[in-house]
Amino acid sequence: MDQVDQIKRKLSIVDIVGEYVELKKSGRNYKALCPFHGEKTPSFMVSPELQIYKCFGCGESGDMFSFVEKTEGIEFPQALEKLAERAGIELEKMRPDPDKGKRQVVYEINHLTAEYYHFVLTKHKVGKNALDYLTKERKFTANTIESFKLGYAPDSWDGLFSFLAKRKYSVSDILASGVVVAKKSGDGYLDKFKGRIIFPFTGIDGNVVGFSGRTVFDREPKYINTSETLVFHKSSFLYGLDKAKVGIRKKGAVFVEGPTDVISSYQAGVDNVVATSGTALTTGHLKIISRFTKDITFCFDSDSAGFSAVDRAIELAEKEDFNLRVAIIPEKYKDLDEFIKSGPKDLFSFFDGAVSVYDFFLTLVLKRYNKNDPIGKKKIVQELVPIYSRITDPVTLNHYTKRLSEAVSIDQTTVTNLLKGKAVSGFDTREEQIEDKGSDSEETKGKSPGEYILALLMKAPLDISQTVLYKLAQKDFADPKLAEVFSVLKEHLIDRKKKLEIKHFSNKFGDELKGLIEDLYLWDMGDLAADPVLLQSEIDTAFARLKQATIKRELKELSARIKDAEISKDVELLDELSRKFKDLSQKLI
Ligand code: CTP
Ligand code: MN
Repeated sequence: MDQVDQIKRKLSIVDIVGEYVELKKSGRNYKALCPFHGEKTPSFMVSPELQIYKCFGCGESGDMFSFVEKTEGIEFPQALEKLAERAGIELEKMRPDPDKGKRQVVYEINHLTAEYYHFVLTKHKVGKNALDYLTKERKFTANTIESFKLGYAPDSWDGLFSFLAKRKYSVSDILASGVVVAKKSGDGYLDKFKGRIIFPFTGIDGNVVGFSGRTVFDREPKYINTSETLVFHKSSFLYGLDKAKVGIRKKGAVFVEGPTDVISSYQAGVDNVVATSGTALTTGHLKIISRFTKDITFCFDSDSAGFSAVDRAIELAEKEDFNLRVAIIPEKYKDLDEFIKSGPKDLFSFFDGAVSVYDFFLTLVLKRYNKNDPIGKKKIVQELVPIYSRITDPVTLNHYTKRLSEAVSIDQTTVTNLLKGKAVSGFDTREEQIEDKGSDSEETKGKSPGEYILALLMKAPLDISQTVLYKLAQKDFADPKLAEVFSVLKEHLIDRKKKLEIKHFSNKFGDELKGLIEDLYLWDMGDLAADPVLLQSEIDTAFARLKQATIKRELKELSARIKDAEISKDVELLDELSRKFKDLSQKLI
């Protein structure tokens, strides 16, 4: 048994998933609102027996490892580590991480530091001013301060350093965490943050990776952040992601300007907001975000600093196929914070009302120049061509070619030619996949009759299923895959008189059929399987429907053969086939 199996045995997928969504028992499975896409009725199913989950709405599926990977935005090795720890299993053969021990100590020191600053802010008189500022000016509630573990670093030289040193951390470990720095001249150490409100940086996994400190004395600089350490990399760190990851997966990500905006939005009930810290947006940030979503909304101040960030983001984001939008804060507000404090009734619809970045730039440029004046026209086109020519998606490109040509009333070919100067040519037409469900495509609750009856038979006790199992034949399943599943199921239940143990059963099949069986088993039929009368009648109805489909199929075949016989003028055969056709069609209700 490998380690993955060991972990799966020790843990239950129901517990793991249950930490993220509210699971309701439904028959032998559990169901919930899908954490991977927005929905109002649950189509996300979890099977404790199979130890898997599947969403019948968006198609996400997998085991506890992939669930943790996707919800936490981490890779398999980290998910393995996380679940192994939870299961109390020591991992063998892991690629040794030489820095693991050091990293652990830095996390510990950071954690203690956050607690220390939080204590000073919330409990100590030294933190009173800062606390007043946060509660009165920022309007942060006690809950919010608690939830983001906000703190205050006293205006002293080495309060934190001696606190940490007393706890027996070595100077080199303390320095490695970046909260204390060596004096530039002479011996000794100084706290990095002094007289500042502290925003701890929490990583996706909940560890404190660094800090940002905002002055309360109007000192310069306004903010200082932890420098690069073993655990903090500003080019990939996103403030708030630990809290927003679930919301982001469902609704896309909103990027705001900094921790304060994240906190205000969060307090106003928006749960999909993040911010970069101490740096502009980088590919590193986008890589992290792309594990959760391809939809990004930027929400920046109406001053121009935010605009250039958006401009930069487009370049990076187009390559990664992101959908970028911009939510523009109404001009009368200085920033998002002020806008939120003004009490906009529905901050969600403000974010939802964000326009595509390309519309955003169009509006911006149209405001700046006069579109009726030839020089204005030229400027508008000149500013937008470099932006629009980066669009790689043909549909989007076509849309904005039109928009631009209409906006300045010039013909579309001119715009197209201008854009082509740089535009990527060649369309990558993705042909739509047309699903062919075979001839028994009449659907029952989204399933073909063949799938439906197999789903029922897998869950029914033998005394209910056996008659139908006897009467059904492989030929009743138009889809050869279903036919195969049926024959193995029949053999298992009837010939070998074995009770269906789903995990054992699905393991008899190759990956493709296994997936199919798991889908069928996970498919929600509520408590139907627990009510013998209802189940029996459902199976009988499904059986009848399937038989009808078989007849129709056979009739079609016969009519093709009849045509052939007519062409070859084989009177005898024609006679025989016609008789068969007549008999068979009488069985059709
Ligand atoms: N920021 C920074 N360094 C600065 C100014 C700002 O790193 N000197 C970052 C911070 O992450 C901050 C974000 O930019 O959260 C937004 O800046 P700003 O609005 O100036 O900070 P606030 O604390 O919200 O200040 P104000 O009350 O003036 O809005
Ligand atoms: Mn601000």
